[in-house]
Amino acid sequence: MGIVSAPEREFDVVVWGATGFAGRLTAQYLLERYGTSLRWALGGRNRAKLEAVREAISVETGVDASGLPLVVGDAADAASMRALAERTRVACTTVGPYALYGAELVAACAAAGTHYCDLTGEVFWMGRMIDAHQDKAQASGARIVHTCGFDCIPADLGVFFLQREMQARHGVPGTRVKLRVAGFSGGMSGGTAATGINMFDEQSRNPEVRRRNEDPYAINPTDRRSGPDGPDSFRPAWDADFEQWTGPFIMANVDTRVVRRSNALLDHAYGADFCYDEAMLMGSGPVGFAKATGLATALRVGMAAMTIGPLRRAAAARMPAPGAGPSKQARETGYWDVRLLAEHPSDPSNNLRVRLTGDRDPGYGSTAKMLAESAICLARDPLASRGGLHTPASAMGDALLERLLQNAGVTAEIEDG
Ligand SMILES: NC(=O)c1ccc[n+]([C@@H]2O[C@H](COP(=O)([O-])OP(=O)(O)OC[C@H]3O[C@@H](n4cnc5c(N)ncnc54)[C@H](OP(=O)(O)O)[C@@H]3O)[C@@H](O)[C@H]2O)c1
Repeated sequence: MGIVSAPEREFDVVVWGATGFAGRLTAQYLLERYGTSLRWALGGRNRAKLEAVREAISVETGVDASGLPLVVGDAADAASMRALAERTRVACTTVGPYALYGAELVAACAAAGTHYCDLTGEVFWMGRMIDAHQDKAQASGARIVHTCGFDCIPADLGVFFLQREMQARHGVPGTRVKLRVAGFSGGMSGGTAATGINMFDEQSRNPEVRRRNEDPYAINPTDRRSGPDGPDSFRPAWDADFEQWTGPFIMANVDTRVVRRSNALLDHAYGADFCYDEAMLMGSGPVGFAKATGLATALRVGMAAMTIGPLRRAAAARMPAPGAGPSKQARETGYWDVRLLAEHPSDPSNNLRVRLTGDRDPGYGSTAKMLAESAICLARDPLASRGGLHTPASAMGDALLERLLQNAGVTAEIEDG
């Protein structure tokens, strides 16, 4: 594969949406870790708000950010997004819901050969972006990488890492990988709530959105949009490998699609018949069963309620407002812990496991570090991938994994299975 390097630009990275909850944390991390050794800028729609963020992150980190440039633009305006894309090697965006505000920036980056990373978990919107911009991004060399936060880096790079270890130790990939969430602690921001509500709004207006969200291979390339996996399970189940009851994991809908797209983009490095699923570990015995059943029921009822307009409006009114999110203490005492198991095709004694952990809450403290390292990786690392609409694993693979292990509080431990 040819090596595509980002073009010379005024900036290495623009954090677009730096005034939002996730954007500000991403900017703060970049300032703390990379300071002024990076050519970067804060971007958003409101200059006064950007100035206030620049001052606040200076105070928070103790690093003088007064010289940090500000880029003001309009997410809905194609010319404004083109101007932004042409000034930077990487656009790192937290302006969401992406389905409402994200399309012009993706189009601009694909056209300008500008690398791009975001935090979307909106499967139908990723499908739209792939359909609309894949050819342009391939031609320009832009690597467009969605889902660079807790959605879906632990799953996507976890499978990538585990399958590479399977190949190295046993000469074959696992035929099936399962991810089990052992625990996490954290909260939700207003932007995430708005994004969830908007997804249900879109589904209620357009049956094609629901169909795409439910398709297990929804974002695979069109000629590889089938495989052995079926719909996500919402049932409690006993997992003999982990000796615990499991319940549905709310992010499986996104993670599984991204992992399957990675397999397709990596020329089926995990195998053409590769199976992948996710669930939450809920404990053993009657208590574990009761918790798994409770979670499955709550999720089914909650999802059904969200399809009803007035209930959705009532839920939205009780959720955090845009710009709000979990406290500093909740982020710093937060964590996540996921386990993956790869099944050897013929000999279960060669199964392999990996445990991945993060040292901050998944959605914000840890996500900000993962997104920022993705942006730096796209700007600086000599990657072998070509331009196109990617997953974290297909665009950055080992280079990003290495960064996360070294800089971002992520650990990965392999165990025999
Ligand atoms: N995948 C993951 O793991 C993960 C984790 C966290 C967040 N997220 C996603 O990240 C997104 C942001 O979340 P958040 O909590 O940071 O949201 P937020 O606090 O509401 O911030 C949204 C940002 O978008 C900006 N914005 C909104 N409309 C705009 C427009 N028309 N033009 C320009 N900028 C506009 C806001 O600017 P103003 O400040 O001027 O209003 C703000 O900077 C959401 O889609 C969320 O679902 C994903």
